[in-house]
Amino acid sequence: MEKIIIEGSHRLVGEVTISGAKNSALAILTAAILADSKCTIKNLPDIRDIAYLKELLLQMGAKVESSKNAMTIDGSCMSKHKVDNDLAKKMRASYYFLGALLCKFKNAEVPFPGGCDIGVRPIDLHIKGLEALGANIKISHGMIIASATELVGTEIYLDFASVGATINIMLAASMAKGVTTIENAAKEPYIVDTANFLNAMGAKITGAGTDIIKIKGVKALHGCEHTIIPDQMEAGTFMAAAAATQGDVLIKNIIPTHLESISAKLREMGIEITESEDSLRVKSNGKMKAVNIKTLPYPGFPTDMQQPMSVLLALSQGTAIITESIFESRFKYLDELKRMGAKISVEGRVAVIEGIKRLSGAPVFATDLRAGAAMVVAGLAAEGQTEISNIEHIDRGYERLEDKLRSLGAKIHRINVAEE
Ligand code: EPZ
Repeated sequence: MEKIIIEGSHRLVGEVTISGAKNSALAILTAAILADSKCTIKNLPDIRDIAYLKELLLQMGAKVESSKNAMTIDGSCMSKHKVDNDLAKKMRASYYFLGALLCKFKNAEVPFPGGCDIGVRPIDLHIKGLEALGANIKISHGMIIASATELVGTEIYLDFASVGATINIMLAASMAKGVTTIENAAKEPYIVDTANFLNAMGAKITGAGTDIIKIKGVKALHGCEHTIIPDQMEAGTFMAAAAATQGDVLIKNIIPTHLESISAKLREMGIEITESEDSLRVKSNGKMKAVNIKTLPYPGFPTDMQQPMSVLLALSQGTAIITESIFESRFKYLDELKRMGAKISVEGRVAVIEGIKRLSGAPVFATDLRAGAAMVVAGLAAEGQTEISNIEHIDRGYERLEDKLRSLGAKIHRINVAEE
């Protein structure tokens, strides 16, 4: 088992380059199987979830060649429409194979994705959308079994602007008969990136990034080349780390508009943010004013940044309120933050944080991916040593996190401990 060890209270200073967006890459690598020839995807993050997805693609018969940050996929020779249970369980986003395999084979068998430490995470909206397109879907022995004689475009209203449901419906509708309209669609940058990729393959999708997306089904999709957008959550995590350590960090390879809600909140706290075309600089003098945060679908404040930001609020002057309106239990990690001295009380979807001067290093757990990021930010700011366990969560979504932080002056390393 591995752990991350951090000696806290070292300012982060210098430059860091952000990797490709995990949540775009997972959708786009799955969508690539729809092409009748090779797709080459660049700027992929070198993270565990991408490695798992590559294994899934190979298992299903796709031809895959990969280098560190790029992958070429040829799904034209695929014949299997069943996703391997054990592998898919490791990676929640395997649910994208539902829409993609239904579109490609009119058949799909995908393990029912488990919940995780941030909530139940149902997929009822995915299923409602795919049934509206004409799929018959049943759940049997933990598998979602979907089939359709044909997929026909229709109007679909999403009760919640679900990222996953929006993408899954886009995948299935891309070669359906006629036009599909998704109303109350999610507007996250991942949606736009996936729509741009599908259109590069010959799809006819308009409105991505707004709450109404139109997909005009086409007969076939062809191979293409695509570069994944920068990861706004990795960028946000480095913004929080710079602010938490009174740092001065230039964050490169980003799209500033994707970070607007995070930059606005940090400015409200008194952090200096200077933007340029594809980078931004975060400067902090250590004084942070408490602010309230309510997580919302994009372009609101992102739920994936709630956890790293809570560390800043724990160190701010005053009392802050976080309202987590997306997931029903995304505060479990706060118990770990309290072990470091944070003063926090939680009631349902609301956390009240009373700022303190310093956090103290402690042994803590990463309860999920972004909670792990929060523990790293807390360890960087804390007095003394912090030891983080369950770091496999962090490896799912952050490429070379310790290396990037060390290059900014952090005292952080990974150790291998015998299984206790
Ligand atoms: C995506 O999850 C991201 N994951 C999540 O990032 C992110 O937190 C989330 O979007 C919100 O931005 C990937 O893209 C792989 P949703 P997703 O469908 O698609 C409810 C990370 O750390 N809902 O927008 O699962 C659901 O319960 C991860 O990178 C339904 O009720 O999110 C939740 O309350 C964590 N029924 C809300 O919608 C459904 O059918 C948001 O879910 C689907 C969702």
